[in-house]
Amino acid sequence: MTAPAKAYPLVSVRNLSKHYALRTWWGGKASVFRAVENVSFDIRPGETLGLVGESGSGKSTIGRAVTMLNPPTLGTVAFEGTDLATLSPLAMRGMRARIQTVFQDPYAALNPRMAVGTYVAEAFKLHRPDMRRLERREAVAGLFERVGLDPRFAGRFPHQFSGGQRQRICIARAIALKPSFIVADEPIAALDVSIQAQVVNLLQDLQDELGLSYLFISHDLRMVRHLCQRVAVLWRGRIVELAPSDLLYENPRHPYTRRLLGAVPVPDPAAERARLAAARTEPESSPSEGGELAEVAPGHWVAGH
Ligand SMILES: Nc1ncnc2c1ncn2[C@@H]1O[C@H](COP(=O)(O)OP(=O)(O)O)[C@@H](O)[C@H]1O
Ligand SMILES: [Mg+2]
Repeated sequence: MTAPAKAYPLVSVRNLSKHYALRTWWGGKASVFRAVENVSFDIRPGETLGLVGESGSGKSTIGRAVTMLNPPTLGTVAFEGTDLATLSPLAMRGMRARIQTVFQDPYAALNPRMAVGTYVAEAFKLHRPDMRRLERREAVAGLFERVGLDPRFAGRFPHQFSGGQRQRICIARAIALKPSFIVADEPIAALDVSIQAQVVNLLQDLQDELGLSYLFISHDLRMVRHLCQRVAVLWRGRIVELAPSDLLYENPRHPYTRRLLGAVPVPDPAAERARLAAARTEPESSPSEGGELAEVAPGHWVAGH
């Protein structure tokens, strides 16, 4: 948006897969569960990319892999052209300041026994040892104001706030170190509907101000329309469609995207049921060509089906 165009994307994910070894409770042979399979996308400076799919489709797994909180099994994540896996622990620490996450449940993210101002100040304690106490206090007060909270509340504890206020506290901590990229993993899903728009507006204002990029994760395709320049639709760990928002909503091409939009014309329910059942029984290890994305219009990618 406000950020200047750069030669390389801010975030570049290539062929990312995440496999989990599943152990049987009786000690039988472990199997491999492919939670995310061969996912690639870019995020440009200042852009919001939506990542949408139903529960269990692998959204959070991708979010954690992109931030290296839970690194990928295969594939690469590059930030400003640097493969994150090649960074030394020290360089990765510096990188952590620039890549932040906001989670669905702010109460779980906060420490119930820590004053919220201390929680926000921790970001400075960890990454800015040069800052003095008073400087930190002022910076925290400024952050509280920036996210719409009274700085006098900084001494209070998480249970003394509403859900929306708690998410504002988490956002204050996320922006404390002036990151360039935030993974927002269903950041409003746990909030009252009346509060959701306020938090979305805050995230958008911060984006304009700080030139932030977001990976905005949601299970609700309709919700992300106005928030995201582009949207990727995830189905069983694979991206089945990726397009600029308008194209995706006006001309969804993949059957799963249409289903998510609730816009599937179902002339023959029996045929539709059969088709869905067939899709479900598709072998997990289908040849990768079947899932390869093809560009059907400029910037509009659809998995072969
Ligand atoms: N640590 C783990 N071990 C085994 N399976 C996991 C682990 N974490 C996630 N999964 C599985 O991976 C799939 C994707 O999970 P997740 O990324 O949380 O999906 P989403 O965020 O879209 O709801 C789910 O089937 C989930 O059960
Ligand atoms: Mg999730």
